[in-house]
Formats: sequence, C-alpha cells, structure tokens
Amino acid sequence: MCGIVGYIGEHQATDVLLNGLEKLEYRGYDSAGIALVTGRGTEQFKVKGRIDALRQRVDGQSQSTMGIGHTRWATHGAPNETNAHPHQSESGRFTLVHNGVIENYQALKEDYLQDVDLVSSTDTEIIVQLVEQISKKHEQTAAAFREAISILEGSYAIAMIDQEDSGTLYVAKNKSPLLIGIGDGFNVVASDAMATLKETDQYVEIEDQEIVFVQRHHVTIEKLDGTLVNRIPYTAEIDMTDIEKGTYPHFMLKEIDEQPIVMRNIINAYQNEHDELRLEPEIREAMTQCDRIYIIACGTSYHAGLVGKTFLEKLARIPIEVHVASEFSYNMPLLSEKPLFIFISQSGETADSRAVLVKVKEMGHQALTITNVSGSTLSREADYTLHLHAGPEIAVASTKAYTAQIAVLAILAVDTATKKDITLGFNPLQELAIAANAMEMLTDQKAVFEDLAEAYLDVSRNAFFIGRGTDYYVALEAALKLKEISYIQAGGFAGGELKHGTIALIEEGTPVIALSTQKHVNYAIRGNVQEVAARGANTMVISTKGLDEETDAFVLPEVHELLTPLVSVVTMQLIAYYAALYRGCDVDKPRNLAKSVTVE
Ligand code: G6P
Repeated sequence: MCGIVGYIGEHQATDVLLNGLEKLEYRGYDSAGIALVTGRGTEQFKVKGRIDALRQRVDGQSQSTMGIGHTRWATHGAPNETNAHPHQSESGRFTLVHNGVIENYQALKEDYLQDVDLVSSTDTEIIVQLVEQISKKHEQTAAAFREAISILEGSYAIAMIDQEDSGTLYVAKNKSPLLIGIGDGFNVVASDAMATLKETDQYVEIEDQEIVFVQRHHVTIEKLDGTLVNRIPYTAEIDMTDIEKGTYPHFMLKEIDEQPIVMRNIINAYQNEHDELRLEPEIREAMTQCDRIYIIACGTSYHAGLVGKTFLEKLARIPIEVHVASEFSYNMPLLSEKPLFIFISQSGETADSRAVLVKVKEMGHQALTITNVSGSTLSREADYTLHLHAGPEIAVASTKAYTAQIAVLAILAVDTATKKDITLGFNPLQELAIAANAMEMLTDQKAVFEDLAEAYLDVSRNAFFIGRGTDYYVALEAALKLKEISYIQAGGFAGGELKHGTIALIEEGTPVIALSTQKHVNYAIRGNVQEVAARGANTMVISTKGLDEETDAFVLPEVHELLTPLVSVVTMQLIAYYAALYRGCDVDKPRNLAKSVTVE
C-alpha cells in the first residue's frame, strides 16, 4: 500500500524513480507521481492510474539527478491527480511524498495553516505546508523539518525535497516502512528494497521517530531530539529473478508454481543435519510455557491461522484462538493467564496486526511473528520470528505465502508436540515433502483447472465454497481468492451451516464448490452437496484419493490428512486464476486492493 522511491546521485533520477515505482506496483495503488529538481525548479508529474501512464506523462527534457516518487492508495481524498503525491508547499519550495496516515491533521490545519490555501484533500499536504510555515522561523531546513515531524501524530514514511537545497533528501519514518539504499556516488530511499535492487543491495534500516538527511555521498540518521545514530548497512538477500515474471504471464501463476519449491525451502530451513526439526530453544520454551495461544492476522494470513489452530490443538494440545486483527484491537477478549501471541503476516507490515502487537507488548505478553519479510516491523517488534522462506510475493492475491504459513505452523505444532513428549506417529518433514510433490502434480495439470473455471465460473455472478473442518477453512480462502481477482461475489461456508440461511441464494446453475478431504466428515459434506444440488446448484466436488466418487470433478493426490489444505488450496488458486483470466481482470493488480496494508 503506497510506495516511495527517492534518488540523489550523479545519474538521471527519472529512470530510477519510474523503475522503482514499477517494482512497488504490487503493493497496490490508484495514482502515482514523481518530482524532479531541474534547472527549471521542481517539476512534478502525476497521473491517476498506472505507472505506464506516468511514463508517458514525464517530460523527456527534464534532466535531474535528484527526485522523489510515489504510488498512492487513496485514504484521505479520492484517487485523482490533485490528491496524487508528491505534494508541494504554497510557495513551491518544498515537495514531499508520504505513506501512512496523519491522525492529528485537522488540529495541525487549524493551529498552523489557517491562512494557507490547501489544494488537495490529503493529510499529506498538511505536512509539506507545515514544513514551509515552520521554516519561516528557522534558517536551516533540517531544523524546520525536525520540528514539523515532531508534532505529527500517526504513521508516516516521508521523503522531501527543498528546492533551495538540491543536495539533500529529507526523510522521516514512524510505523510505515522505509529504507535507505547505499550506493557508490548515490543513495536511494525506498519503501521496499525490491524497488531499488537494481541500483544497490546495501540497505540501512530506519527506526520509528528517526529522521535522515540523505546526500549523494553521505547519510546522516538522527533521533528526533538530534542524537546521532550509527547503523551498519545490511545486504538485501533478494534474487533479482524472484522479482521478475520471466516467461510467466502473471506473477500469480509464477507464485502458484513456486509452492512446491517453497515447501522444500521450508523443510531445508527447519531441519538440522540429523533430519530433525530445529527451532530456537526460546520459541520452544514460549510455546510450552503458555496456557493459550492467540493467533492474530488479516486476510489470507488469518485463513492460514485457522488451519494452524487445527495443527496446534490436535498435535501440540494447546488451546488456540484465532482473531482478525482489526477486531481484536478494539474488542479484546478476556485473556488467559499466560497467553502467547502469534502474528501471521506475509508482509510483516500490516497496520491492523501491528496495532495489536503494540498493545499486547505494552501489556507485557510474549509475541512470535511468522512472516515472509525478515526485518519487517512485526518481526522486529515481536520477541521471536519464524521465517516463511517463500521468496518475494508480488501478486496482490497471496498464494505461496499462505501455503508457507501453513507449513511453518505445522512445523511449529510438531516441534512443540515433540518438546511435550507427545507421540505423533508420523515424520512431519517427510509428510511435507510428499505434499510438495502432490502440489507439483497439480500445477502440472493446469488445463484441468482452466476447464473447470470456464465450466463453472465463466458467466456466473456468484459462487459458494463449502467444506467441513479444515476444508471449511480452505473454502474461506478459496472464496477470498476468487473475490479478490475475478470480482465474482463468493463466500466460503461450513457445509452444515449453508442450510441455516445462505441456501436461500441457491438457484438454477449457482456454482457450489465443495471440498472433501477429511474422512470423518466426508459423508456429511456429501449430504450438503446433495442439498444444494436438489435446489439446482451447479455442484463441483474436489475430493481426495480414497474418499472419491465417480462424479467428482477432481481427485487430489493423497497426502497426510492434516496437510490436505496445502494441496486442495492449489486447485482453488488455479480455478480463481483462470476465472479471473476469462473475465479479463488484471490478475496481479486487482482493483482497490493493496498488498501491504499499512493503514488501520
Ligand atoms: C492485504 C492483502 C491480502 C493479505 C492481507 C494481510 O489485504 O491484499 O492478500 O492477506 O493484507 O497481509 P499480511 O501481509 O499481513 O499477510
């Protein structure tokens, strides 16, 4: 959600900014813009829509070795050119891009900007106008910037240019991600290292409430009180091929195909030379000392958490509650005496989850983050982290991160069970390897799912997914996937619950997709399929070997019963993918969605 790129150096800034913004497209946005310091002053180019359109708009004559760029996902004010970033102060001296939400922007407007004509409806414009007002009493822009930043409340990642000082990018951060990339003769600023990986693999993290002065050959980090901070750069371990589509038409399809490899990466990462699980002793301790685990997550990660609950309760015998983060922070349930919090987040930056993390840390509870991004906010602020090893996920609709989350949760459950001397009777790493092979068998048969998508979802305006037990949790994820990328109105339901209301929506031809991978509920879910078929539904059953019936649309290869979500979801991802293609949707960048939602 929203992306920032900044460049200061010896080369042309335009290409670095536009290429960087393109790499941040995956985060989700609806307008974009760049500002360049040129011989003609600060020139701005903004569009509603895609970076391609911005490229067309940028004047080829604008030569500049310094600039800032932004992709905006609208929060305050409609997605249009006026509200697109960068925003400029009244005189045009200061130009700024911002991610996040300024919570006290109304108060700041009343206190400082009564006489200023604001042109946009954004909270961001308040910041840049504020810097200009405060700069009137300071000789140094640095002092004005610091003072302005220190009265902001809320979340922000900011990059600002001062037309009268083309040697410095002014940068600040609080609760929104931002990194400084260190180059030879240049430096960059980016929301995500992926944006500027082509320029450098050396990055410096900025912590909350720090400001940074980025110059061509020098980077100065300070706390808000002016104290200097020394921080060593780290090497970003992202492979360029991970963030290119290669021969794939879409990142989503590439990421679906990568799932078996991700499973194998996870197996390698979590086993020692004796083929045994290896988790940090502190994590084991936290898992065995707690009396209840609260899993907190959003979207697809929440669905993975539901599957994880089954593992942790069945294998490790710990009571689990799974909560949607945005609800938990405002309606906290009565907690147990020794709770442990597990945050599941692909990006590690989701603001709703972070709000809960901040609260529970203040209450003195322990937290473990399961994330794909080491060094992300949720990882840094929790006590422990388990890494997903899924590689960068670019498509907005999450696929490989979801299956990675399930695999890591399975490992965590098995490891805890082992520590508690609970006999499981199966080798978890071997079972995961079998699941990885099964996933590969499915991704090798894409044509089958393409046909199923056409037969069931090509012209349909709605669809229902049903299942029982873990199949129900996968049904929720299947419905979300379809909604996100094809815009078909879809819902996931517990098979037995449909008849208590939703069955009223079933009419002739309504697609109902049922999962049957759990022996103990096979009979029951088949009954639910009959109920909707009798009312005209176009039913599709995906079952697993051993539970299959002749009319089933697809039979999944056999895997350990607990791990069936890893394989059944692949069929659902592929069906959603092809349904979206049939409808001509922008699969990787669905409307209104953001990959990393950094506002509450
Ligand atoms: C956004 C994305 C979803 C994702 C959710 C949680 O809404 O569009 O795909 O599941 O955020 O993201 P996280 O990074 O915390 O897993």
